[in-house]
Amino acid sequence: MRKHLFATKPLAMLLEEMKGENRLRRVLGPVGLTSLGVGAIIGTGIFVLVGKAARDAAGPSLMLSFIVAGVACIFAALCYAEFSSMVPVAGSAYTYAYATLGELFAWIIGWDLVLEYSVGAATVAHGWSHYFQDFIKLFGLKLPYQIANAPFAYDTAAIPSQPWLDLPALVITALVTWVLVVGIKESARFNAAMVIVKVAIVIFVIVTGFFYIKTTNWSHFAPFGYGGLSFFGWIPPGTTVVNGKPAGMLAGAAVIFFAYIGFDSISTHSEEAKNPQRDLPIGIITSLIVCTVLYVLVAAVLTGMIPYDQIDKDAPVSSAFEQVGLNGARYLISFGALTGITSVLLVLMLSQPRVLLAMARDGLVPPGFFSAVHEKYRTPYKSTILTGVFVGSMGALLPLDILADLVNIGTLLAFAIVCAAVLIMRKTNPNANRPFRVPLVPLIPTLGILMCLMLMFSLPWQNWARLFVWLAIGFVIYFTYGYHHSVLARLPESGFTPKVVPEDLV
Ligand code: ALA
Repeated sequence: MRKHLFATKPLAMLLEEMKGENRLRRVLGPVGLTSLGVGAIIGTGIFVLVGKAARDAAGPSLMLSFIVAGVACIFAALCYAEFSSMVPVAGSAYTYAYATLGELFAWIIGWDLVLEYSVGAATVAHGWSHYFQDFIKLFGLKLPYQIANAPFAYDTAAIPSQPWLDLPALVITALVTWVLVVGIKESARFNAAMVIVKVAIVIFVIVTGFFYIKTTNWSHFAPFGYGGLSFFGWIPPGTTVVNGKPAGMLAGAAVIFFAYIGFDSISTHSEEAKNPQRDLPIGIITSLIVCTVLYVLVAAVLTGMIPYDQIDKDAPVSSAFEQVGLNGARYLISFGALTGITSVLLVLMLSQPRVLLAMARDGLVPPGFFSAVHEKYRTPYKSTILTGVFVGSMGALLPLDILADLVNIGTLLAFAIVCAAVLIMRKTNPNANRPFRVPLVPLIPTLGILMCLMLMFSLPWQNWARLFVWLAIGFVIYFTYGYHHSVLARLPESGFTPKVVPEDLV
């Protein structure tokens, strides 16, 4: 059993599999990939969560929080880039873990990526709905209460009657699902248009907001200090506690880490890249650097325009402009936020079926369903539709503020494992072809692991408990299905022969 759980998938097997029949179309170049990355990154984090992070955790030191979270992501991104240039197959971190740490870890990562992509997308769909409602309010429109809110997200004592569902979250998820089933090329075009709009709005915020900065607003630079750590409930002495949770610059970094989630989704598109070895590292690193710079500038403008304790938590950026008297800008910013959040949803939901496709090829989830590629559109349509149903129902029904933190901790775990996997792969396959190499190994991957752990310990301890429950559910699924259907386990002990992959599993 131990041998099975820690069996690794040979690199040669991964490369051989890339030549198979059931492939996706190669249509994405470096600009398309970078745009997918930016599309996945700029969204709910910078338009919504930034308010909570500035007000309750970091104050103006949010600028530093963005740098800390951005640096952690850049270390992880370099590791992703090395792997994605080496093994450009769909599956991202899941595939890397299978090649280095073995099947059990691969499953843990795959399951963790469901958290990142699907639960993350549900969080984003929920946020989209609230921005949508805010936007139509500008035109005097309002949805009936019952169909505008998630039933479990409310304090029932404070409301007139129980809502039924969050209809806008459901509708946007259905629309995005349809676009994704029709095909990657169409999705990439749709995405590129939305990315241009949202980047233009973010630049507008930075340039216009710059003229309204009052440096006195930065004078209490870190009102809650620079910490925020909590080790399973033990809070280091000297840490400021707000609403029972540790606050400070690091706590802010752990919250706004959500704003960076998505860059790794580029690596799930490696099969669709025209020249993956060169373009994937370019796409991953460029999109991350661009977003880090924009984020730090938005944080500077926001905390400079108004005192941190007056920043709105629901629509912080557009409200800040209203607070300084720029009412007209609110239309533009709300529209940009809505567009930005839509493209995040698109990329997250595009990535999920690709991870499931990779897992299905390995037999860890049912291949008949998850690896079915549409004859005409060449997209993994069945799992795209299933993802849509999962995301739509969660977005419509569940209290997603808690889930956002769960998404963060799960993603940080995945990043830490990818950094560790680079260190292991350098030992186990030292001579493999690495078109892109992480510089300064072992320093960069080690710092990546440490920074991810630091951010995980900067989230309230309840998130660790939720992460363990999520992983436990995953183990039940693995030991009931994946363990018994693993393709790797059915290969001859003596070594790898690609042709033995059973027909029915492809
Ligand atoms: N980074 C993405 C966002 O902020 C998930 O919406």
